[in-house]
Amino acid sequence: MARILITSAIPYINGIKHLGNLIGSQLPADLYARYCRSRGHEVMFICATDEHGTPAELAAAKAGMPVEDYCAEMHAVQSDLAAGFRLSFDHFGRSSSGRNHRLTQHFARVLGENGFVEEVGESQFFSVADNRFLPDRYIEGTCPNCGYERARGDQCENCTKQLDPTDLINPRSAISGSTELELRETRHLYLKQKSLKGEISGWIDSKTDWPLLTTSIARKWLNDGEGLQDRGITRDLSWGVPVQFEAAPWKGMEGKVFYVWFDAPIEYIAATAEWADATGQQDSAWERWWRTDKGAADVRYVQFMGKDNVPFHTLSFPATIMGSREPWKLVDYIKSFNYLNYDGGQFSTSQGRGVFMDQALSILPADYWRWWLLSHAPESSDSEFTWENFQTSVNKDLADVLGNFVSRITKFCRAKYGEEVPPGGQTGDRAAALIEELETRVRAYEGHMEAMEIRKAATELRAIWVAGNEYLQSAAPWTVFKEDPERAAAMVRLGLNLIRLYAILSEPFIPDASAKMLHAMHCTDKTWPGSIAEALGVLQPGHAFTTPEVLFAKIADEEREDWAKRFSGIRT
Ligand code: 2FM
Ligand code: ZN
Repeated sequence: MARILITSAIPYINGIKHLGNLIGSQLPADLYARYCRSRGHEVMFICATDEHGTPAELAAAKAGMPVEDYCAEMHAVQSDLAAGFRLSFDHFGRSSSGRNHRLTQHFARVLGENGFVEEVGESQFFSVADNRFLPDRYIEGTCPNCGYERARGDQCENCTKQLDPTDLINPRSAISGSTELELRETRHLYLKQKSLKGEISGWIDSKTDWPLLTTSIARKWLNDGEGLQDRGITRDLSWGVPVQFEAAPWKGMEGKVFYVWFDAPIEYIAATAEWADATGQQDSAWERWWRTDKGAADVRYVQFMGKDNVPFHTLSFPATIMGSREPWKLVDYIKSFNYLNYDGGQFSTSQGRGVFMDQALSILPADYWRWWLLSHAPESSDSEFTWENFQTSVNKDLADVLGNFVSRITKFCRAKYGEEVPPGGQTGDRAAALIEELETRVRAYEGHMEAMEIRKAATELRAIWVAGNEYLQSAAPWTVFKEDPERAAAMVRLGLNLIRLYAILSEPFIPDASAKMLHAMHCTDKTWPGSIAEALGVLQPGHAFTTPEVLFAKIADEEREDWAKRFSGIRT
C-alpha cells in the first residue's frame, strides 16, 4: 500500500466553472484518486477555491457584494457542485483561510531570511479614471509574445506566457476600459527566481517520466529568451494575505497583499491543514503528507492542472518550496491538460460561453458528463465538445453497451430462474475465451490508470464492457435455455458476476452507476480483481439480487437539439 497525495488546481472563486475547467483538473484528479483508493492505497485528495487577487475582487464588484461575502457564498456554491459531480475531495478548502494566511506569511519570511526576496521600486500602471493601480487582471492588452488581444496583465491565456502589466501592448483598464494610464512609482517584493534557476532546471531535467506537455512548457519558460525572471510577489490590493505582519522582515508594506499566484499553491498545504482542523486532528496528521522530516518522504505527490497553470507549478511554486530550504514535499508528477473547446469555439468564463457545471447537472446526472468528459479528455491535443458527439457516446457506450448488458442479464435471470444466482451447469469455450480476454484487458486498464492515460483507460474500459456484451450475444442463453437450462444457468451466473466486476472497474469513471450495480447485486465486496476467473466466481449460486432500474437513459434527438439551442448563447 502506497501513500498518494493528489491535488487539483484550485479553481478561482469568480463564478461557476464550465466543463472545460472541470476536465482540465478536478475531474481527472478525482478519477485518479478513486482509482488509487480502489487499489487500496492511502489517498489524500485536496482541492480548494482560489479566493484572492483580481479575479475575486472584480467578480465581487460585479456582483455588488463585499468580497468576503462573495467568496463565502461562491465557495458554498462550488462545493455543492463538486459534490454533485461526485468529486471525492478529502477536503475542499479556501485559500482565504487563516491556515493559508499564516503559511503564506511563513514562506515569505523564510524566503526573505534566505535571501530570495528583494524589495524593488518599480513603475506600475495607475488608472486615472479608476483612481487605482491596475495589477494583473485589472489590466488587459495585446500579448507581446503571440499577439492575442485579450491578454491579461499577469498571463496570456492563449500562449501561457507569464506577463507583467507593462509588457502588454495597448494596455487598458479592465474595470473601465480607460486607456488613460500613468506609470507611478510603487514598491514591491520580488522572488529571486533567477538565483534558483539552476536548481529548478536540474530538478525538471530529472523528471524524465513527466508528460511532454508538462516538461515542454516548463522548459520553454526556463530556457527561452530571457528565461526565468524574478517576479513580483506582492500587489497594491486590499483583499489577500497582508504583506506586513508581526514577524515580517520588511517594513512599510502596509496596504499591500501577496500576489494570488504566490499564495494559491501554498493553499494545497494549507487546505490539508484545514482538513486536519476540520477533523479534529493534530498538526502531525497533515504534516505527514507534506513534511519529508515528518513522514512524507514516502508520499507520492501528483498534481493535476490545465496547461496555463503549468509555469506556476513547474517554476514558481517549486521556487517557493526550494527557496524555503525547509523539508516540504515537492511534486513527483504533474499531469497537465490541453483545452476543451465548445462547439466550434472556446469555453469562456468571462464571456459566458459553453456549458457550466450547474447547467450540466440540471439536464443530466453526473455520470453522463463524467463519462463523456473523461473519455474525451484533452490529453495529447485540444478536444471539442459537440452535442452530437455527446449524444452518440452516451447512447452507445453507456446505454447500448453497459446499460443494456446489465438490464438483459438481470431481466432474463428474473424471468427464468428468479432473482438469485442460479446453480448448475458448465460454461463453455466462449466463456473461457472471454475470461482470457478480460485478463489481458483488465491488466491493460490498470496500466493506463496508473499512467494517468485517461483516454486509453476509457477505451479499455469500454472494450471490457463490449466483451461482456458480445459474449452474451454469442452464447445466447435465451436460446440455450430451451434445450439445456443448466448450461444457460452457468452463462447467466457468469453474466451476473460480470455486473459486479464492471461495477468495481467502472467506479472511478461512473461512481453512481457503479453504486447502483453493486446495490442491485446485493454486494458490498468491492475488492479490486486479481485473477479474473476468481473475481467472476464471487457471487455464488443462491445469492439474491434485485433487477435494477434502467441505468442510463438514451438522449433523444429532440433533447439534443433543445440543449444545443439552449446553450448556444452567452450566459449572463
Ligand atoms: O487557473 C486557475 O483557475 C487558478 N485558480 C489555479 C490555481 S492552482 C494553484 F496554484 F493553486
Ligand atoms: Zn500570448
